Amino acid sequence: MGAPSSGKLWGGRFAEGTDALVERINASVGFDQRLYREDLAGSVAHVRMLAEAAIITADDASAIEAGLRTVRADIDAGRFEWRIDREDVHLNVEAALADRIGSVAGRLHTGRSRNDQVALDLRLYLREAFLNRATDALDLAAVLLEQANDKAHVVLPGYTHLQRAQPVSLAHHLHAYVAMLLRDAGRLLDAHDRANRLPLGSGALAGTPHPIRRERVATELGFPELTENSLDAVSDRDAAVEFLSAAALASSHLSRMGEELVLWMSQEFRFVQLPDAFCTGSSIMPQKKNPDIPELVRSKTGRITGSLVSLLMTLKGLPLAYNKDLQEDKEPLFDADDTLRDILTVMARLLAGARFDAERMKGALRAGFVMATDVADALVAAGVPFRDAHHRVGALVQTCARRGTELESLTPAEWHELMPELDAAAIARALDPVVSLERRDQPGSPAPKRVQAAQATFEARVLEARARVDRTRSRTELCEWMRSPAT
Ligand code: ARG
Repeated sequence: MGAPSSGKLWGGRFAEGTDALVERINASVGFDQRLYREDLAGSVAHVRMLAEAAIITADDASAIEAGLRTVRADIDAGRFEWRIDREDVHLNVEAALADRIGSVAGRLHTGRSRNDQVALDLRLYLREAFLNRATDALDLAAVLLEQANDKAHVVLPGYTHLQRAQPVSLAHHLHAYVAMLLRDAGRLLDAHDRANRLPLGSGALAGTPHPIRRERVATELGFPELTENSLDAVSDRDAAVEFLSAAALASSHLSRMGEELVLWMSQEFRFVQLPDAFCTGSSIMPQKKNPDIPELVRSKTGRITGSLVSLLMTLKGLPLAYNKDLQEDKEPLFDADDTLRDILTVMARLLAGARFDAERMKGALRAGFVMATDVADALVAAGVPFRDAHHRVGALVQTCARRGTELESLTPAEWHELMPELDAAAIARALDPVVSLERRDQPGSPAPKRVQAAQATFEARVLEARARVDRTRSRTELCEWMRSPAT
């Protein structure tokens, strides 16, 4: 590209240079340089196609590809000078190519616009992000399954409204998060498949008159389909929104997990101990071991959800087709991707080292009338209508609460007087949390044998999802330019 008199890369139209503040606001190179692998992969696929379609000569294409290789090597090695006056990753690469190989570099951009170029880069980036974050979610699910493996008989109160409600098992409780994470991974992988279309060839908005071969580029970059409408393709950021919404939902699941760890680590619960390496102390209170990491995980949800809302607001009301507003898609996306990676990874490492206190959990069942529903169900089994049983057990609870005792401290005579339908054996069974679990013998319920079956099912589903990631990845590994530098 020749040296424009105005100093602007896009040349002829401008007589004056750019105002410095405008340059700073307009430039995206500070953050979109993160897309350099994607950008170079797209350029190489494009230039190979240009030669194949005889739009440029094979010699020019080889010179351009060789030049791009040196650019890539310099960026990998940290030797590349990113220039704000060259605005974004695309113009930085193109201008650097021209610095190296001269005016033949100007042929690279034939039949292409930065608008379809950035749309391509983003889809290439997102394809990886979908797979990588799905893998992180599956890794965390695997850690939870490892913890759950021998805990189908470890009883604790399940809570509603944070009031002790009914007995459940620790394995069943951990499985609840496995179910969420499997959905999170599935959402990311589904969105990957929707994003997996090549937008290059859409031009600035209305395609190109050059006889490009979009299918050829798609094959090279491992896209099974082409986008179907040029106006849509250059302004479509659905895949980024889908990534952010899947990330926001996953992080909201993690925030629940974080909150429970905070509660469970408190003196009031003492259900769990976290490894020292994942906790912090207090600068003033020597006894403190604080759950800062679960707290931060809980709070990152706000940040990721903020990114989702930020992008949705950017997109709202944009007329077709490309508008510079779309440049604002990248920072929230990158930040959410990094944040989600960190919180999934730290939760997996922290939970791998968590030690649960089965005695404390079981002890918590001794207060709070956790077995009241089981007594009502025993009455139902003896023929009493459920609503009557509920009312009578409620009165029993009220009597105990007034005395400051639990159901266990009622005498046999009192039981006989208040619940004549129940013999001593039926009462003992109704008050036993393990019996209570065993009776909840439906698919999805906490009976230990159901939970053991669920454990096997969840393990198989994690493996299936990992196989889906591997299959998908093997279809895109065609693209050597996308790989990270060997370090
Ligand atoms: N840096 C721009 C972005 O991220 C690239 C596309 C610019 N296209 C344009 N016509 N200004 O959106």
